[in-house]
Amino acid sequence: MEPREPKYYSSAPVESSTLVDGHGRRVRDLRISITDRCNLRCTYCMPAEGLPWLPRADVLTYEEIARIAKVCVDRWAFDAIRITGGEPTLRADVVSLFELLAPLGVDLAMTTNAIRLVDLAVPLRNAGLKRVNISLDTLDAATFERITRRDDLGRTIAGIDAAIAAGLAPVKINTVVMRGVNDHEILDLVEFARDRGVGLRFIEFMPLDAGQGWTLDQVVPAREILETIDAAFPLSGDAIPTSGHVEPAERFAFADGRGDVGVIASVTEPFCGDCDRVRITADGRLRTCLFALDESDLREVVRSGGSDDDLAAVIARAVAGKWAGHRIGNVDFIRPDRSMSQIGG
Ligand code: 5AD
Ligand code: SF4
Repeated sequence: MEPREPKYYSSAPVESSTLVDGHGRRVRDLRISITDRCNLRCTYCMPAEGLPWLPRADVLTYEEIARIAKVCVDRWAFDAIRITGGEPTLRADVVSLFELLAPLGVDLAMTTNAIRLVDLAVPLRNAGLKRVNISLDTLDAATFERITRRDDLGRTIAGIDAAIAAGLAPVKINTVVMRGVNDHEILDLVEFARDRGVGLRFIEFMPLDAGQGWTLDQVVPAREILETIDAAFPLSGDAIPTSGHVEPAERFAFADGRGDVGVIASVTEPFCGDCDRVRITADGRLRTCLFALDESDLREVVRSGGSDDDLAAVIARAVAGKWAGHRIGNVDFIRPDRSMSQIGG
């Protein structure tokens, strides 16, 4: 497989109150990791023994997070905030973070493994969380344990059902496809999602696995995933056009009208040309790309008494230098030394 070069192009002209990077892309989506800890140990994300967790004092408080988020929303009309981890529901009193963020009035989402949603789905929804993306890579208990190194498939599925019942809509399932591990379950997962009326996106395995042995031949290309699906559940022609927000997933409707399925071809067909996001790690570092090698220290600005203008200046400077795209598969690609759990998905 020969990864293609990312498609680079500039978006339409934007008003001055927006944040635009050095390649003409408007940035409006903030992803905030609130903890690097997790109750699973997915092989594509962490080693079995976990990673050296951040000391508590290094992690941004909810007030610090809310302040940074407000700067982005007020100054540049960011309209989407996603809370990620690690596993965000492990952080103490996570519900109160959503209470702080809800008044910003943005599309408020969370990425989670769903294990704690049986208890938390309703309180989170009441606090202002609108929707969740849930990681589920298999429906087989043994494969679940092989991938996550924990015996938690039942709790995960119960968590998905709790999210649906709580009205966190749309619920979307994210599946990382790995050759020889779970690629034979693509159709089972499609059936599962269609039965429950939830979204489903298959994600290409990316080299953000804390050195756990990612190789290109374990990546199942999105095209191949779509062919597998189409052969059993015919898809209707062209991708569904995206409305408004940039979506990394290319989505296709099922010909029988029962839902749709997406693929995120982060490796073989990067969507970098359309990327509108920046990320903040749990320790308050701004990263302008999942694969960025440098970070800007927002925590230092906040804790040294910096003003909102100071914060905005640091963010704007970092965004100006946002990469055109990642270089996975090219000789000059350098893996970041942070894993997905340390960056936030
Ligand atoms: N490649 C692709 N996706 C990954 N995720 C975590 N690690 C990887 C990886 N190496 C996904 C998780 C979750 C989201 C946060 O990122 O499955 O859905
Ligand atoms: Fe935890 Fe998500 Fe990483 Fe799995 S992928 S170990 S659920 S942070």
